[in-house]
Amino acid sequence: MNFRFADLRSKRTADAALGAPLARKEPTVAAPLSAPPAPLYQSGRHDGTQDYLDLKVRLHQKLIEEINLSVLDRVDRGDLKHEIGGAVARLLADEDKPLNTQERERITDELVDELMGYGPLEPLLKDDSVNDILVNTPHQVYVERRGVLEETNVRFKDDAHLLRIIDRIVVRVGRRVDEGTPLVDARLPDGSRVNAVIPPIALDGPMLSIRKFSRIPYDLERLVEVGSMTKACADVLKGVVKCRLNLLISGGTGTGKTTLLNAVSRYIGEKERIVTIEDAAELQLQQRHVCRMETRPSNIEGRGEITQRELVKNALRMRPDRIIVGEVRGGEAFDMMQAMNTGHDGSITTVHANSPRDALSRLEQMVSMANLDIPTRAVRNQIASALDVVVQIKRFADGVRRIVSVQEITGMEGEVVTMQEIFRFKQDHIDTEGRVIGRFEPTGVRPHFYETFLANGLEAPELFASGAQGGRA
Ligand SMILES: Nc1ncnc2c1ncn2[C@@H]1O[C@H](COP(=O)(O)OP(=O)(O)OP(=O)(O)O)[C@@H](O)[C@H]1O
Ligand SMILES: [Mg+2]
Repeated sequence: MNFRFADLRSKRTADAALGAPLARKEPTVAAPLSAPPAPLYQSGRHDGTQDYLDLKVRLHQKLIEEINLSVLDRVDRGDLKHEIGGAVARLLADEDKPLNTQERERITDELVDELMGYGPLEPLLKDDSVNDILVNTPHQVYVERRGVLEETNVRFKDDAHLLRIIDRIVVRVGRRVDEGTPLVDARLPDGSRVNAVIPPIALDGPMLSIRKFSRIPYDLERLVEVGSMTKACADVLKGVVKCRLNLLISGGTGTGKTTLLNAVSRYIGEKERIVTIEDAAELQLQQRHVCRMETRPSNIEGRGEITQRELVKNALRMRPDRIIVGEVRGGEAFDMMQAMNTGHDGSITTVHANSPRDALSRLEQMVSMANLDIPTRAVRNQIASALDVVVQIKRFADGVRRIVSVQEITGMEGEVVTMQEIFRFKQDHIDTEGRVIGRFEPTGVRPHFYETFLANGLEAPELFASGAQGGRA
């Protein structure tokens, strides 16, 4: 959109004078977050002397006083940068502070980030090597790079500054965050998943966790390349999905469950109708015929909540070929198991658990949460006949995520659901550079689904061939 700085200029609106969040579409939301417009920060991009920081704060305040904040949402970043650059040059002349071209460029960029984007978070959002951004307090920001957490020198000015950025994120997806709703899930426009917790629940100031959307999605080939699994394992997982076996992906937090679900989903047939259900939409299915649904938290009056369970029940009325639940967390497990047992084969979901056995007991608890009247044995029976394969992922000390076990559910023995391991990762040692050295090895067991693979015209994966060697990691 074309505009001139003149369009941006206006007398400070009452809204801005109160210091309400910038670029807000709904000036009525989250009033308690109002903070004075004094948001500059020490960015991680340079060491910023106090002088430089003070200068930025002054320039930012002057810009806020001059411009019409309500048009910021509609302007193009390039245009804004051009105009802000001009204004910065003029303001610097008033300040009698000569900056070289590079410094002026930097300060302009940071001011644009402050006005339009996510302030100090911008450099981290643009940095593709960062997966997760974890803001613990305005003065403590961690990131995860290549599976390892590190502290950054990114700083927010104060709680109010951080709150303003959080507010800007959540308002854009039509949610709110304030003392009455201090926990909120949201999404950035690029699909990154955001969670914010603010006082009084957060004791030391607002907290923000961002799981960045991966611009280069992991497919199974890439997961093999980065050492998360062997090609043989990838072939088995492809076959499992193609043959419409029911798959459960298990792992701890941030181990790559959603990533693996996305990767295997590529092998769902184009002709199938897929219904996805998530708490925060993260799945990126490639197929054309996908119906996506997301849960909704209750509103401020405590009404209007839509749970995963309701969505699973509803999905069954939508003539799905496959139901994919991003992560089972509660009573919907019961409906998922029922669906899997009543012809909705090929369903895939993930669960937060530390081993395949643990995954089954978590499921059992969740199924019982929905229906306390069923005896344990019946619940287990239901799980045993619903699920076919459990995959366990783990994040190792070297930051690499690996598939540590693939197990086939074989049935029940007495009260216990039986499983057989098809293959595993076995850690040998950690080398001098901290890398985990080990082997992905087939157990030699030929799974029952081997016959299903053959019946579906799939080649028997190399894994099942006798004498197959485990790959090294
Ligand atoms: N095999 C892998 N190798 C390297 N990075 C990975 C791998 N799998 C996932 N990641 C990265 O790790 C982060 C966490 O992945 P993902 O969201 O899939 O985990 P999760 O187990 O679903 O997490 P949560 O428990 O929060 O739902 C993402 O940034 C993702 O890009
Ligand atoms: Mg996940």
